[in-house]
Amino acid sequence: MCGIVGYIGKKQAAPVLIGALKRLEYRGYDSAGIAVNSGKKINVVKTKGKLNVLAEKIEGGNAVKGTTAIGHTRWATHGKPSDINAHPHTSGSGRIAVVHNGIIENYIELKDFLIKKGYRFISETDTEVIAHLADFYYKGDLLKMTARLTQTLKGSYALEIISQDKPDEIAAVKKDSPLIIGLGDGENFIASDIPAVLPYTRNVYIIEDYEIALIKREGVALYNTELEHINKEVFYVNWNVSAAEKGGYEHFMIKEIMEEPQAILNTVSQMVGQGMMKIDKIPDKINIVACGSSYNVGVAGKYIIEQIAKIPVEVDTASEYRYRDALLTKNTLVVVISQSGETADTLAALRESKRRGAETLSIVNVIGSTIAREADRVLYTLAGPEISVATTKAYSTQLAAVYMLALSLAKAEGKLSPELEKYYGEELFKLPSLINKILEQKDKIKDLASKYFKAKNVFFIGRGIDYALSLEGALKLKEISYIHSEAYPAGELKHGPISLIEDGTLVVALATQEKLFEKTLNNIKEVKSRGAVVLSIVEEENTQIEECSDDVFYLPKTNKMFTSSLAATILQLFAYYVANLNGNDVDQPRNLAKSVTVE
Ligand code: AGP
Repeated sequence: MCGIVGYIGKKQAAPVLIGALKRLEYRGYDSAGIAVNSGKKINVVKTKGKLNVLAEKIEGGNAVKGTTAIGHTRWATHGKPSDINAHPHTSGSGRIAVVHNGIIENYIELKDFLIKKGYRFISETDTEVIAHLADFYYKGDLLKMTARLTQTLKGSYALEIISQDKPDEIAAVKKDSPLIIGLGDGENFIASDIPAVLPYTRNVYIIEDYEIALIKREGVALYNTELEHINKEVFYVNWNVSAAEKGGYEHFMIKEIMEEPQAILNTVSQMVGQGMMKIDKIPDKINIVACGSSYNVGVAGKYIIEQIAKIPVEVDTASEYRYRDALLTKNTLVVVISQSGETADTLAALRESKRRGAETLSIVNVIGSTIAREADRVLYTLAGPEISVATTKAYSTQLAAVYMLALSLAKAEGKLSPELEKYYGEELFKLPSLINKILEQKDKIKDLASKYFKAKNVFFIGRGIDYALSLEGALKLKEISYIHSEAYPAGELKHGPISLIEDGTLVVALATQEKLFEKTLNNIKEVKSRGAVVLSIVEEENTQIEECSDDVFYLPKTNKMFTSSLAATILQLFAYYVANLNGNDVDQPRNLAKSVTVE
């Protein structure tokens, strides 16, 4: 995610902002910049690369004078990392400067409108639209102009805006993206997150959606979009910096699980908002190639794409695919999935596919990463930076991206009527609120973990896409709790694995697929009769499963196609709490790296 900061006070602003941006580096970024209001003009310095590149350009901040400024670290979503695409963005005249964290969904229509009004765009970003729109609305009153922006912009944003003719003011507003204001003595600070301001103040305002702040040296005034004054409690921050970087959560992993609703909303919005992916050539076969959790998404993708688009799908781990001389037809689409976009085996598999002339599509989270750049096409998951080694929000957004790919393929084949496209789009937009319902029950999952965290062997079973989710449940548990966990198709147990079931063996059974429910129920009874302890995950109202389960977690009702993906959040939380109860280093598990860039 991008990081935004702002300062107005007695100090030279640039050095203060460089330090504040450094304390937001953990959010991940690829470029940085600041805009300083000298009282006569706004000086903007911005550059691709890390903060030290920016700091060098402005001699640590001493080369740009002024005590009012805004700053930004960019996590690219629209447009590659570059000097031009870095924030702040200014209006044509340079009199307005803006920094932004979020995604403007209606930026294309706004850009067309502004071009017709004579504005000239130089970047590929959605944010530049905000700068010109602000200029278009600005009549000398920053507050009114900001209120006007909230009536027009759609999507997510945390904004800071300065104007050349207002050296003693900064305006700020947010919707869906985080924003806080640090309250000082004769100076005030703005940031995406608390760590940025901690060295100066522990008194902050936590800004809510559509609250507009007008920040001056002598104080901060808050308004609603009708420009009526708002009073707000000051929040005293008693966290240390490390806790603050995790937003007050104990670990990045739980913070990232809690971010899943917004991550999925961002990912789905870019697709549904801008129309399904354009498929020029319909493949006669699809090979999905990935590693680890991304491979597990590929296994789910086989069920999803074959069911929705009726195109045969093969799934390989990249380390196997790259050496097995896979049979590619002349019209095979190779889909590589990777959170980091740098996994060596997956990159090698991509290059091997291209060498053999296959069309390639990547599903990647890190914008501008090697795999994203080298594939013929890329579908970005907009999960934001994922710090914890065990993937959670990226996995969940990859699943959403596979659904969107399947729907795009079906549409290209003429199998998706406008009504069905609308219906599935609406169902995808329901996922964030359904995941929130699961997150609201995280204490129930924590209780389940406290019951089972001493397990020595765990089986995850399921049929159909539930089997694919079982793979991820087993991987998540083993990689952070170090408990031996295996996933099996539920119907496969009787062909050997069931010999391992003995009194007390924990079996996590996913039975979310209506048409396979009875079959899975029989498999659960098989293991139960051999002494297993069973934790079942089913759709609400399937209460008959209680007779052969020790614990049941009920999923909220949704389109049956997406039910299984809701189970991912439960499995991630379960693994997190089990690992935590075992005292493991949840964010940095032994032997693992966030991105495996070696063979
Ligand atoms: C997932 O929790 C693991 N950290 C690991 O399996 C990971 O999914 C795998 O290394 C692939 O990484 P990628 O998605 O960045 O390519």
